[in-house]
Amino acid sequence: MLADRTKLFTESVIREMTRLAMMHGAINLAQGFPDFPAPDAVKEAAVEAIRADHNQYAITWGAKRLRDAVSRKTLRFYGYEPDPEREITVSCGATEAMMAALLATVNPGDEVIVFEPFYENYVPDAAISGARLVFVPLEEPDFSFDPERLRAAFSPRTKAIVVNTPNNPSGRVFTRAEMETIAALCREFDALCITDEIYEHILYDENVHISIATLPGMRERTITISGLSKTFSVTGWRIGYLIAPPELTDGIRKVHDFLTVGAPAPLQEAAAGALDFDDAFYDDLRALYGAKRDVLMQGLTEAGFEVVRPQGAYYIMADIRPFGATDDTEFARFLTAEIGVAPVPGSSFYSNQELGRTKVRFTFSKSEETLQMACDRLARLRDRVPSPAR
Ligand SMILES: Cc1ncc(COP(=O)(O)O)c(C=O)c1O
Repeated sequence: MLADRTKLFTESVIREMTRLAMMHGAINLAQGFPDFPAPDAVKEAAVEAIRADHNQYAITWGAKRLRDAVSRKTLRFYGYEPDPEREITVSCGATEAMMAALLATVNPGDEVIVFEPFYENYVPDAAISGARLVFVPLEEPDFSFDPERLRAAFSPRTKAIVVNTPNNPSGRVFTRAEMETIAALCREFDALCITDEIYEHILYDENVHISIATLPGMRERTITISGLSKTFSVTGWRIGYLIAPPELTDGIRKVHDFLTVGAPAPLQEAAAGALDFDDAFYDDLRALYGAKRDVLMQGLTEAGFEVVRPQGAYYIMADIRPFGATDDTEFARFLTAEIGVAPVPGSSFYSNQELGRTKVRFTFSKSEETLQMACDRLARLRDRVPSPAR
């Protein structure tokens, strides 16, 4: 009874791990959502908006107050001011934003370049939009890309490149030089850049986020995607947005209108206030996640994993070979059922699944108490798994 397109992709591995975690009472470090409260001011603003009767459809491309706030926020952090009337569309999360961006710009068969490991939604997004994905590996140990390999992936058939920095799952933050390499290729091959910047404010150490639309000649060929989910710990609100030149925005708004009509109206009002939070909020966010990163890094290292220190976002890719393990899915299931901590098998982030076969991904978007408990459980790995490495 099902349409062929449903066979083009499998069920989300992350959600499957979440189910498995619940079944075994394991701590869920698979799915990237906070288990701690959203800021009070954000919650109060939502309650207030409902009381004030912002309860009917907002304008399909987003409440004016929120589009204005996105424009102000873009000026504040990136130094340019997109026109709220013609360049900003509010969506149901970055998830809908990516789908709408691809549906609005890609004809079936057009090539779209994606770095791997990638956020798992990009594959079904491509399947639905008809994009033909061309993968370029982020290479270990530091998850950087080889500029020549990237160049080789571009061709006259390239419609767009999807960039996600800070990156899920690798924790990599691309440098200015890397962003300039990508931008130069987009200009040379007349390609679009669709940039998923949902972790733009979650950065560690000296790393800075370069928003590619700010590079010369890029604003007119970039669709910038972000949202409230990660920065304000409100993944359930489903508020995201796209910034794109007017002619692209026209197409995006049409797709968005018929996909979802609009994002939740009262939550758009609350989101507008959140985007104006002062610098202290953003500093605290980095400090909060920096501390969580350190707790999980230490726990994983002490348990025996080999880990790459994330520069941004809130995930750690861990190598399972020190335990003599060679199959990520088997190891993830073992960790969930026997140790009580659920990760995501690494292969789910690669088109060539072999590249992720010896990795699992953990999120640290959890309270320090949850993370400490997870680390205590992971410490048992030292005794439970025979390690030829030790
Ligand atoms: C890279 C990336 N993009 C998008 C999303 C989804 O964002 P939203 O909740 O705004 O749909 C996630 C969530 O994990 C993500 O990791």
